[in-house]
Amino acid sequence: ADPDPLQDFCVADVSASPSVNGFPCKASSQITSDDFFFDGLSKAGNTTNLYRATVTAGNVLAFPGLNTLGISMNRVDFAPGGLNPPHSHPRASESGVVIKGKLLVGFVTTNNVYYSKVLSAGQMFVVPRGLVHFQLNVGKGKALAFTAFNSHLPGASVLSFNLFASTPSIPDAVLTKAFQVDDDVINNIRSKFGF
Ligand code: GLV
Ligand code: MN
Repeated sequence: ADPDPLQDFCVADVSASPSVNGFPCKASSQITSDDFFFDGLSKAGNTTNLYRATVTAGNVLAFPGLNTLGISMNRVDFAPGGLNPPHSHPRASESGVVIKGKLLVGFVTTNNVYYSKVLSAGQMFVVPRGLVHFQLNVGKGKALAFTAFNSHLPGASVLSFNLFASTPSIPDAVLTKAFQVDDDVINNIRSKFGF
């Protein structure tokens, strides 16, 4: 979904402020082989958290060589029962491959049609750009997946955090009406996220 590059590469100068379509380029005299390799996805992420799953991002912020190239990848680790919670990527479609374990992978269309399948090692999935999706570890052990995006910075809007853990909070009057529940239900959900 990102625009096409206008040069071979533009390694991000991450010390500079991001500009309209990414970071400014590092001076070519400063560029080395290391700019085009990244080992940040080699280790399992820490899954000791609310959802028992963690996304390790290999986007332009972590891997400056991706700047302006319109691609990036994540690693997603799941403890047993772990969930990568419903979220969407405003700037990219996603495809993924399960490396280990068994994942229930699902997405919902803008017309509220739900598509899903349980995948095991070697099987792939796709999530069309912007659609809400999740992965749930339904196997007995840990699970691992790698995902790929057509953006150097796909962004991720996590629905539960957007709605119940924003700063400042969305007013109760909005959320009680949106979900047709009382304030105590909204406050109970907020409290799970430390809000
Ligand atoms: C999985 O959905 C991911 O965004 O990496
Ligand atoms: Mn995703």
